[in-house]
Amino acid sequence: MNPTWVQQLIVLGTLLGARHTSTDTAGSWCYEDAECGPETWVALGHGNGTRQSPVNIVTPASVHSRHLGAVSLTGYEDARKLISMENTGKTVSVHLADGLHLSAQGLPATYTAKSFHLHWGEGEDRPGSEHFINHKGFSMELHIVHTKNNLSMDDALKDPEGITVLAFFLQATAHARPSHSWDSFTQHLKKVALKGKKMNLDGSFSLWGLLGSVDLARYYRYQGSLTTPNCDEVVVWTVFPDPILVPPGVVTAFTSMLHSTDSADKLQNNYQPLQSLGDHQVEASAALRVTPSSSSTPRAAVLIPLLISIMVITWQL
Ligand SMILES: *[C@@H]1O[C@H](CO)[C@@H](O)[C@H](O)[C@H]1NC(C)=O
Ligand SMILES: *[C@@H]1O[C@H](CO)[C@@H](O)[C@H](O)[C@H]1NC(C)=O
Ligand SMILES: [Zn+2]
Repeated sequence: MNPTWVQQLIVLGTLLGARHTSTDTAGSWCYEDAECGPETWVALGHGNGTRQSPVNIVTPASVHSRHLGAVSLTGYEDARKLISMENTGKTVSVHLADGLHLSAQGLPATYTAKSFHLHWGEGEDRPGSEHFINHKGFSMELHIVHTKNNLSMDDALKDPEGITVLAFFLQATAHARPSHSWDSFTQHLKKVALKGKKMNLDGSFSLWGLLGSVDLARYYRYQGSLTTPNCDEVVVWTVFPDPILVPPGVVTAFTSMLHSTDSADKLQNNYQPLQSLGDHQVEASAALRVTPSSSSTPRAAVLIPLLISIMVITWQL
């Protein structure tokens, strides 16, 4: 046999081998291709369970729980806790150092933050949040993943309340004030543009900075699942309905700069479709009963003329 033939066969064999292992390990599921998309995830795990996420949260159907006060976060303002950032091909994930703790009423323990990542659509026009509020989606969704009592992820998956995720919406709007933290985060994205790229962070932004002025007392709580395979039903969700307002450029940075492969495919629409809530309950925190200041205006608009007419009538009497 001609030696160049042998070489070519070896190269071909290596390529086929490499391709085979990469499909075996990393890429057995996807978002947008019918062959590996969400309809096929049931075969990978718990996708046919009864507490699947994400869900559409309907305000009037939620149960108001007076005992659910503000969540308490410690360590989230420390920028040095953000260690590294990675393009997993499915999202961009930030790995967190020890020391970020979450406690809140209704949670059975203190939870430790391990990482955070985001879900997005296709730019400003196609929203990419996973949860919906009153049938409305948002531009993006931020998930901070915590384990109970600092369990490892593997151990947390064995406990029905092993994981708690804080979910924050991002909404692109031209009226948003510029955010140093989001600018800093998005400036790093080009360094992890391709799948598998990882970089160390430099302490230039903190989680607290990303959250902006979201009211930590206003949230919904329900028992659900991971939103990626194996969709394990081990997540206590805390979903904050008031979005973090960001300039449109923040959203387009995610939808345009990242790739789902090590070449050209854009990483977009990385959200799971809504799942049925069935007859499960969503709890609304105590502060959600108090509607935000904007909706107090209609009440004032009715009350003030009423008061004036009463005064006028009394005056005339
Ligand atoms: C659905 O879940 C049950 C266990 O609850 C399992 O026995 C069954 O095989 C699952 N169905 C599919 C299609 O995965
Ligand atoms: C939490 O878990 C991590 C990873 O397993 C470990 O490195 C760290 O020391 C733990 N922290 C505490 C306070 O036990
Ligand atoms: Zn997520």
